[in-house]
Amino acid sequence: MKQEELQFAVRGTLIHAPAAGDIEVLENALIAVDDRGQIAAVTSPGQPDHGKLEQTVRDACKLEELSPKEYLLPGLVDTHVHAPQWPQLGKALDRPLDEWLQKYTFPLEARYADLDFAQRVYESLVSTLIANGTTTAMYYATIHLEASKRLAEICLQKGQRALVGKIAMDNPGQCPDYYRDASTQQGLDDTEIFIEYVRGLPGNSNGLVLPVVTPRFIPGCTDEMLQGLGEITKRADCHVQTHCSEGDWEHAFVLDRYGKTDTLSLDGFGLLTPQTILAHCNFVNDADMGVIKETKTGIAHCPLSNLYFSNAVFPVRKALDKGLQVGLGTDIAAGANPGILHNCQMAVTVSRAREDGVNPELEPSERGASGARIDFREAFWMATAGGGEALGLKVGKFAEGYAFDAMVVGTDVADTNLIIWEEMDTSDDVLQKVIYNAERQNIKRVWVQGKQVKG
Ligand code: GUN
Ligand code: FE
Repeated sequence: MKQEELQFAVRGTLIHAPAAGDIEVLENALIAVDDRGQIAAVTSPGQPDHGKLEQTVRDACKLEELSPKEYLLPGLVDTHVHAPQWPQLGKALDRPLDEWLQKYTFPLEARYADLDFAQRVYESLVSTLIANGTTTAMYYATIHLEASKRLAEICLQKGQRALVGKIAMDNPGQCPDYYRDASTQQGLDDTEIFIEYVRGLPGNSNGLVLPVVTPRFIPGCTDEMLQGLGEITKRADCHVQTHCSEGDWEHAFVLDRYGKTDTLSLDGFGLLTPQTILAHCNFVNDADMGVIKETKTGIAHCPLSNLYFSNAVFPVRKALDKGLQVGLGTDIAAGANPGILHNCQMAVTVSRAREDGVNPELEPSERGASGARIDFREAFWMATAGGGEALGLKVGKFAEGYAFDAMVVGTDVADTNLIIWEEMDTSDDVLQKVIYNAERQNIKRVWVQGKQVKG
């Protein structure tokens, strides 16, 4: 690479998951970042271009050396977050989804008519997610146009890659009078205004923050709303996010209304595209999975949230085996932890619980779903490159042309649960230990698009 295009380079141990189930560890590697924040080269000692790159970096005096107690990992991708639910994190976990929405969540979300409140909450949320290593987040905001704009602005100011949607919900049968789009047309108009606004934000010419068409879920929307949002999606060539076959109540509601599943219904409205993320998908059948694959739609697997609100756990093993694009989501605040590393751990844990089952009163052969497990390698792929693929973004792995979205995880911090025993731990062990025991203080530095946003 040309010296004048080099922004900086990092030398140290790189760990990433370039494909599902596949961990690559590069020791003493060099990763060069260009002036647009893209990865220009990744080389290891002994490779043909390594010496030349090392010389270029030295000549430019732009080398950052990691210590032996530090590891460079890709930044984490959270494919499903409800930003306004941040004050509810860790509480209100006692009711089923339909009651939880009416009793706790809609009253909280209605408060974002107040921009000062929105500012306070969104600043706190985005800072916390960055501190936990989340370099890309796909956010639901609320029905409010101004507060949704504010969330997009805050992500841009803080330098987090973000996909943000103003929620559309206009169905009077499911949405209370105090929290519903003023009319179907108003919801559609505000969605279009929001898309234009985000794309035109000063400082956003590289599309760090992207707008998302966001029907909350089928029950919350009228047919006219879903139809209109499908048309906007096509016209504006925009990302889409919604909930899909999440729990018993919601899944049955859609079957009753349309005589077909969420997946087929959303496809009928033109809402399944390579830029769509469907949250949950717990009750999708084989035909649904076929349509999800054909349309190159992504899935946000939210394992912690599943245990509380879904009456079931997403069959992630089957989805990965079919080659579907699956990322991980916190689903804050139905998921009561803000960390994607924690959700990696939960993805493995719930898949193990699914495989063995948990009811000791049943015979072992009746208790679980055999062959349901995934391991930490697959979970970490979903948390990084898999999430990137699901979103259609070149993030989540260390490869030329990908964005330099990365984090340094260190064991050399005070108060650490992450302890590596050099004579006993392999490099795969290091990654597994990071997933199980790293906490936000171990995440020492974070970059998004080559710009340092933590540390
Ligand atoms: N379905 C509709 N709205 C929501 C929400 O806010 N959280 C979850 N988990 N599911 C939903
Ligand atoms: Fe959700």
